[in-house]
Amino acid sequence: MEKITSLAKRRGFIYPGSEIYGGFAGFWDYGPLGIELKNNIKREWWKSMVYGREDVVGLDAAIIMNPKVWEASGHVEAFTDPLVECKKCHHRFRADKVEDGKCPDCGGSLTEPKKFNLLTEVYVGTTEEGKKKTYLRGEITQGVFVNFRNVVDSTRVKVPFGIAQIGKAFRNEITAGNLTFRSREFEQMELEYFVEPNEKEAEKTFEFWKDTRMNWYVSLGMSKENLRFRDHEEKEKAHYARKATDIEYKAPFGWSEFEGIHHRGDYDLSNHNLSYKDEEAGKEYTPWVIETSGGIDRSALFFLLDAYQEDKDRVILKLDPRLAPFKVAVFPLLANKEDLVREAKRVYDLLRGKFYVAWDARGNIGKRYFAQDEIGTPWCVTVDFQTLDDETVTVRDRDTAKQDRVPIDKLSDYFQNKLGV
Ligand code: GAP
Repeated sequence: MEKITSLAKRRGFIYPGSEIYGGFAGFWDYGPLGIELKNNIKREWWKSMVYGREDVVGLDAAIIMNPKVWEASGHVEAFTDPLVECKKCHHRFRADKVEDGKCPDCGGSLTEPKKFNLLTEVYVGTTEEGKKKTYLRGEITQGVFVNFRNVVDSTRVKVPFGIAQIGKAFRNEITAGNLTFRSREFEQMELEYFVEPNEKEAEKTFEFWKDTRMNWYVSLGMSKENLRFRDHEEKEKAHYARKATDIEYKAPFGWSEFEGIHHRGDYDLSNHNLSYKDEEAGKEYTPWVIETSGGIDRSALFFLLDAYQEDKDRVILKLDPRLAPFKVAVFPLLANKEDLVREAKRVYDLLRGKFYVAWDARGNIGKRYFAQDEIGTPWCVTVDFQTLDDETVTVRDRDTAKQDRVPIDKLSDYFQNKLGV
């Protein structure tokens, strides 16, 4: 974790939020490379969950909603974690994360657990009297449910179908930590999939999405041996869940959840008084919901951890090329040879419109390779003296260090083929 935390900061993936003012616990900023990694995860997710399916549509609901939404959804009443406080140093902890009943900071004794609501309050309105209290969304999910009727009325979807959404959620976590793993502001990528209300259909759908979501992480390069499913015990299930299974990653701080598959039954639609009319079959019912809820920050962190490799003093981030921030880096062999630099700039400009491309003319070529390996750039293009004669360049592969000689006018196709786009 120390190595990833330091790499993330040094190379511009993740910075502590509000750092020049001493930081702000539980908030993080993504740097120039971090935003690329997150955008790439989101793009791949959207491609597989929306564009790749006939039965799923997208949505982007407001972060701030009428407080009645959160009363109906059960979050005002039940979105809680058990909190204990040290009687000596007054530090607070999640009761389920304290192991021996003693304060992890000073060893003092702890209070009995109290329920602590995780919703973050906000006040909306211009005058003191007119200000209305509501909440930043604790899960992005409710925006989908309150739009259920709108989506059914304005599109051609028919049960079974899904609504996909990506966006920020906020939780007043009692303790934040492990870099972005437990943050107070984070992003989720979720699918709410609506099925007819019967156990057989729900069970089949639950199993389908469990496998589909696990395979998605593996298809993007996460090692199988670092992944597992874990079913929730009765006492740990969220207030809305009939059944829940987590996808967990073997992190340096232990097996940790980063996506949940939930059987929410009719809990939400019933609470919002919503139902569905099947015109063809002439029946009306409240669909059940199978949900897949992944965290983008946790996925990004685990993709980074999983990709991190050392080879003597060299660090290689073996990210899948689809997730890597830069796809290609372009260098002139020597920075002080004008014609090499001019030609390399031409190659850089040629590729730039199609891929996110890095330019580097500092130090020697070996150092430039190392610097690109460390941020996961899959291919480095070098313009050398042969380029000036025959318009070919060398393309060096991050993982094998093998070099191909490729004509400049074939470079775009070469990378497009490699990326499968
Ligand atoms: N709509 C269901 C839902 O929100 P959840 O299990 O509470 O379910 C889903 O959250 C995912 O959101 C988690 O698996 C995790 O990846 C992410 N997540 C939840 N709390 C988080 C936090 N404090 N910091 C970062 N990610 C978080």
